[in-house]
Amino acid sequence: MQTLHPSNASGRRKNYLPAIDCPLEGAQVKSFYLTTAIDYANGSPHLGHAYEKILADAIVRSRRMEGVPCHFVTGLDEHGQKVQETAERAGIPPQQLCDGVAEDFQSMCHLMQVHYDDYLRTTQPRHVATVRGILSKLYESGSIYKAPYNGLYSVRAERFVQEKDKVDGRWPEDFGEVIELREENYFFKMKEQRLWLIDFLQKNDSFIFPSYRQKQVLEFLAEPINDLCISRPKSRLSWGIELPFDSNYVTYVWFDALINYISAVGYGTERFNDFWPADVEVIGKDILVPAHAVYWPIMLRAIGLEMPRKLVVHGWWLAKGGEKMSKSVGNVVHPIDYAKVYGSDAFRYFVLSEMNVGQDSNFSHELFVARYRADLSNDLGNLLSRTVHMLDRYCESTVPAIEIKESQEEKLMDAAEKAIADTRECCRDFNFSGALAATFNLVRAANRYLESRSPWKLFGGNGEGNATASTSLAMCAECIRICASLLTPAMPAAAEKIFAQIGSEKCDDWRQLLWGNSLEGKRVGERTILFPRIGDE
Ligand code: ME8
Ligand code: MG
Repeated sequence: MQTLHPSNASGRRKNYLPAIDCPLEGAQVKSFYLTTAIDYANGSPHLGHAYEKILADAIVRSRRMEGVPCHFVTGLDEHGQKVQETAERAGIPPQQLCDGVAEDFQSMCHLMQVHYDDYLRTTQPRHVATVRGILSKLYESGSIYKAPYNGLYSVRAERFVQEKDKVDGRWPEDFGEVIELREENYFFKMKEQRLWLIDFLQKNDSFIFPSYRQKQVLEFLAEPINDLCISRPKSRLSWGIELPFDSNYVTYVWFDALINYISAVGYGTERFNDFWPADVEVIGKDILVPAHAVYWPIMLRAIGLEMPRKLVVHGWWLAKGGEKMSKSVGNVVHPIDYAKVYGSDAFRYFVLSEMNVGQDSNFSHELFVARYRADLSNDLGNLLSRTVHMLDRYCESTVPAIEIKESQEEKLMDAAEKAIADTRECCRDFNFSGALAATFNLVRAANRYLESRSPWKLFGGNGEGNATASTSLAMCAECIRICASLLTPAMPAAAEKIFAQIGSEKCDDWRQLLWGNSLEGKRVGERTILFPRIGDE
């Protein structure tokens, strides 16, 4: 990629995003369509769920800042054995269970400022109809066939098991009696697509982000693959979508769930082409192989649709001790509690800056508090409150002009332009940790500059001192305005509050985000503390 700097020699800045992401003016282009995994309805939202939706939201917000029209879909995966069992234990119908869970997940999204455009639930008629339509189509075209299935079946666990499930040569206690069972089932042809898929992945080496995960898929495909059993007899599982060609069966939950990505945007209708193919599908690493990297491409090919443009695969949040956070282990962090105590902006800031997309990260309260204090309360909070305070005290609450330009001012302007270019580039590459670091470089540069100019020592002195002092406050106000804009995808509500305090209009178009004197004469807003200090509790 070329080196990017927002200004060229003539002082006019170029729009540096290549045309692929940035529609030409007036051109009819499809929306940037982003999906996330749809969460299982058998539990309540935890950090892993919250993070994925926040990441997706930040991607979409950053694209919108580049003027790209977006469509953001997330949702809930409601069918399957676990949901049926949970509902049975609770003594309620599964739909009632799912309705409650859907409310929990949606209010988590609202609390976290995750502004999806559409929320797909797999029990919605639009989805059920699409799944049934696709099943019929694939059955008629011969991609789905019926065959007997022989296997070892655990009566107590109500599922097929394998020799490798044995522990020390014995079946685990909770399997109860294990019998040989012969069951007729429906299968989706996958075997013969293996070589095509390998070829596709080799030709599209940016299909999976980060690209090192592509290797894992190719390793999986190095061995022959089986056709996928896509039915469950109703006698074992009733909570699913009935096969259109055999009412004794429901669909396997993965076959059902993956189709959400196309049912949500009206597969089979005209508007579908405004969205498909998805530009980005955000998922966690546990559901890449085989679901999203093997089943899904082969399903799409059989349906006759293009592949998504990119799978963005994030790692896991780990609890202390390096375990995956999961409900069954009981070590989950409750994102809702954090957002309620510290604000969702602080929570979003923490998870986006702490995790490198692709790698695993640890969540600990100590880390959270350390980042909150150092970055938010101190660096950003201080810059804002000192600047606004001095504007109130020395400048009649009005942003003065930038009157002088010495090397310190030049340096800070360069830092601002670098922050703009770097933050935009990182966001484009799904690197929010890098984007936030780039923005905070500017926050820190402005703090150092303010320290060095020490305007509080200059006001009230001679004319030149006053000009330097008021220039330094105008410089900081401009830096704050730029930071607020750059922080918008990660911390949308905080960004708005910062704009208001500095007397600035919102700048939600990065193509217009240039260093300037746009705040001159603007009255600053009321001073409030954005990130209150937290004690040592
Ligand atoms: O897998 N850290 O649902 P799910 C980071 N319904 N991400 C995590 C995580 C953790 N500790 N735990 C879970 C399903 N996730 C299916 C998806 S898509 C057609 C169907 C992520 O509720 C996980 O990787 O188990 C996945 O992307 C998402 O949360 C939903 O997980
Ligand atoms: Mg899971």
